[in-house]
Amino acid sequence: MTTPDQARVLVVAAITEREPGERRVALVPEVVERLVAQGFEVLVESGAGAGALHADDSYVTSGAKVGSLDEVVERADVVLVVRRPPPETLARLRPGQVLVGLLDARGDRADLDTAVARGVHVLSLDLLPRTLSRAQTMDALTSQASVAGYRAAIVAAEAFGRYFPMMITAAGTARPATVLVLGAGVAGLQAIGTARRLGAQVTGYDVRPAARGEVTSLGAAFLATTVTADGGDGYARALTPEESAAQRAELDAAIRRFDVVITTAQVPGGAPPVLVSAETVAAMAPGSVLVDLAAGPWGGNVAGSVPDERVVTPGGVTVIGAGNLPAQMATGASAAYARNVTALLAAVVADGAVTLDPDDDVVGAVWVRPEGAA
Ligand code: NAI
Repeated sequence: MTTPDQARVLVVAAITEREPGERRVALVPEVVERLVAQGFEVLVESGAGAGALHADDSYVTSGAKVGSLDEVVERADVVLVVRRPPPETLARLRPGQVLVGLLDARGDRADLDTAVARGVHVLSLDLLPRTLSRAQTMDALTSQASVAGYRAAIVAAEAFGRYFPMMITAAGTARPATVLVLGAGVAGLQAIGTARRLGAQVTGYDVRPAARGEVTSLGAAFLATTVTADGGDGYARALTPEESAAQRAELDAAIRRFDVVITTAQVPGGAPPVLVSAETVAAMAPGSVLVDLAAGPWGGNVAGSVPDERVVTPGGVTVIGAGNLPAQMATGASAAYARNVTALLAAVVADGAVTLDPDDDVVGAVWVRPEGAA
């Protein structure tokens, strides 16, 4: 597929995120500058960068034009977003226009399909084949999970009433905090590294046996259980109810010994597994902290965690439903995201036009096509 008018300059736009609490933006001024130098025309919706502390002026200085949503969408060939826009914004996109973002194409995507059926070309970064080496620079799931994992350790340290590192002072010695990270994917490994840098004694756990080496290479201990579940594609498979119960029973005894537990376990396209039961939370010592990165509309890894809420149980255990941690570090998260999204852009633009080749291993994977399309 090639856009019809190849002669003119390609117009790329970033619009304001409309999801409540979302502070990220798909383009940052530094990346705009680079796009302009490469010959793109860049449009930014007024206020789009505010949450990430990029004022309209800084985009203008970088060579972008700033305008209203209508103006920007009207002129853009490619619309860049972080999250899926609401239906009323999707409805403004016209046939032939390209939409790129972390669009949650594995989730309920009726509104995306409507846009696709109208002829909008939808590219969803969460469908990226992540193990492909040429896709690494485009891997927004990884860049954003890294931010989330880093931030989770900071959030845990802030909520914890004692030191993370061992402290030897004239007023006595404080033992280091013990931190357990459940789920050692991208976010989990980043949480392990960050908690280690803060001086805590860290243990990691994952159902994928391959995670052991990655955890120990960060200087953390590995917690082993008898339940393992490698999905064969680098991801964990969902556990059977029996495996899940056995895993929880084994984890239960271990979890109680830790001061801080950070959970990051996800199963692609499914509900996150409950790894910490209500009984385990109740059995933890007062002052313990749980940060549940998997907390969301489909549940979480910790029984009773609520997205974006901090609950202190009657037993004095703080349960933090992490929600959207990358949005809490919007400047850094947006900078990384903007590089990912423009790396994908570079892969689909040739001679001033977008060319979508369904046989390309990246494009074929991220392109959300109508039902039954080849
Ligand atoms: P994720 O966010 O889907 O899940 C996080 C972690 O939770 C995973 O490590 C998973 O094994 C674990 N998990 C799932 N169910 C669990 C359970 N019941 N108990 C304990 N742990 C459980 O995963 P993420 O971070 O997106 O990465 C998944 C895999 O993809 C990893 O192997 C990662 O190394 C790999 N990957 C490879 C890349 C590459 O080759 N360039 C890039 C990014 C990820």
